[in-house]
Parts: sequence; structure tokens; C-alpha cells
Amino acid sequence: MAKPQILVTRAVFAEVLDRLGEYFQVQSNQADEVWSKAELIARLQGKVGAFTTGSERIDAQVLAACPMLQICANMAVGFNNFDLDAMTDLGVLGTNAPDVLTQTTADFGFALLLAAARRVTESEHYLRAGQWRRWRYDMFAGAEVHGSTLGILGMGRIGQAVARRGAKGFDMQVVYHNRSRLAPDIEAHCGARYVSKEELLRSADHLVLVLPYSQQSHHAIGVAELAMMKTTATLVNIARGGIVDDLALADALHHGRLAAAGLDVFEGEPTVNPALLALKNVVLTPHIASATIPTRMAMAMLAADNLIGFLLRGQPVTPLNVQVLESAQHAERKG
Ligand code: DGY
Repeated sequence: MAKPQILVTRAVFAEVLDRLGEYFQVQSNQADEVWSKAELIARLQGKVGAFTTGSERIDAQVLAACPMLQICANMAVGFNNFDLDAMTDLGVLGTNAPDVLTQTTADFGFALLLAAARRVTESEHYLRAGQWRRWRYDMFAGAEVHGSTLGILGMGRIGQAVARRGAKGFDMQVVYHNRSRLAPDIEAHCGARYVSKEELLRSADHLVLVLPYSQQSHHAIGVAELAMMKTTATLVNIARGGIVDDLALADALHHGRLAAAGLDVFEGEPTVNPALLALKNVVLTPHIASATIPTRMAMAMLAADNLIGFLLRGQPVTPLNVQVLESAQHAERKG
């Protein structure tokens, strides 16, 4: 019997393609071409599964145009590239890649926090530009990290991992705000105290954003929220672009209403607001918080395992809308 066909939408590790090739006829994009929506739809014809990354928008138009598609497996924990309601309505399973990137992403949150608060990239640019002539007592003096107050907005797995690093490694007082409060034993394990969003903004010396993007979290940090923060504070975003109003942030950084920021994600990325690019007190990285080879391999293998588990055995590993499996629309797609 012919193997089922799947599409891998972006370049990925050869090991992952080899694994998928054991079970499927795989069409891949190792040249990492940029596809328009029409090209994506054309390539999805006849495919029962798609290995996607956060770059591909999977919406009602794509799903309606690809009647054989049963599953989209994202190689990312975030899944705001999926219109999950449309997927559920149209009978397509979505899966993501949680857990395997938690520690690596939390490490990077701290890298950005330290780099921004202690002015690492700003001072490095100064040195490389040949401007360093002699030592001075206040040269590139930054903010204290150890012993300060770490605020975390969004206390899922990554938020908790950031909290543990702050509390245990840097002796920080950790406060957090989340849609729901954590159980007392988890709070104790993270060394974190639940506060209102306003108290979080007002008390944090360093605020790390780790919440998922949704309509509700769009511009969760805007003009009003920035105005509540300490002028000496650092803001770190390792979550998603759009959670921060980038223009409002640039304005606050430019006018000294906020000391520094470390940003891995941007509104409209890979385009970055020119107002941010013009600033020295912001560290900018190209969405690499989970980028170590072992972690990216684990994320890709988990996406592959979702495709294999679901298409061969009906058992996805990390489904997002498992209820879809019982639907008439899904049954129709299976034919
Ligand atoms: C994720 O997994 O959501 C990361 O942002 C990588 O895309």
C-alpha cells in the first residue's frame, strides 16, 4: 500500500525527514523557499498531514482548500499561526511542541535580561567601534539583577522555569501574574508570589513576558502598562510579538521612562520597528529563544511523533483540539 503523503513546510533536520520517510511520502522544503498562501495550498493538495512551523498561517481558507488534510503538527509550543477554531470547525487536528523547549527558552530569557540590564550589547558595540579609551567609574553602569524583584507575566511552564532561575540562582524576589493562580506547592517550588497585574508592573525591577499570544493578550503591555513600570526597569519579551506595543515601548525607552529592554519577538516580525532599531538600550534577537540544536531537534522530533502517532495509530502526543477526532468533519476528511 502507498504511504500517506505529508508536507514539511520549512527546512528541517535531515534526521527528522529520515524518520518521517519511514512512514510517509514526504514533500519537503529543504531549500527553505518562502511560499505564498496559494503555493502552500497547492503543495498541500493530496497531503494528509503537514509539519508546520510558526511561520505558516493555517486558517479557514487553507483548510477549506485542502480537503484531505487531517493534521497540522507545529514545531513550536506557540500556535498563534493556527486558527484553532477554524481547524476544529473544519475537522483538522492541531498539535504543538511543549515541554521540550522549556529550560532552553528560560535560559534565553535570562540571557536577554542580563544583557539588557547590564548593557552587554551596548557596551560591546562601543568597544568594537574603537570608542573605549580608558576605564571610568560609571561607564555602562546598569541595573542590579541579583537580589532585585523579578516580575513574570504568564506563569506556564516557561514562566515557572524563569522564576526558579531568578529565585534560586539570583536571590530574586519573584512575583507573577497569570490568568489563574498556581497551586501553593508549585508557587513554593518556584519561589514566586502571586500579585495583581498592576502590582506586578509597579514592583518589578525586571519584567519577563511569557504569556501566549491571543486577542486577549494583544498589547498586554502598552502605553498605560509601561507608565506603571519603574523608570529603572527592564522589560524582556520571549513570548510573542504583539503582546507588547512596540511603538509605545520604543517611545518609553527613548524618553527614559523605561531603562532597557530585551526582545526576541516583534510585532510583524521578521520586520522590526525602526524606532526600536534606532535605540541603544534595547537588545534585539531574531526569535531564537529555543535555538539550541538539541532543543530544536527535540521540537522537530515531537512534531514528527505527532504526525506518526496520529496518522498511524490515531494517537497524537500533544494534541491541541483533541475533540476534533470525534467530529463528522474529521471523519469526512479521513474519507
Ligand atoms: C515556540 O516554540 O513557540 C517558539 O517561539 C519557537 O517558534
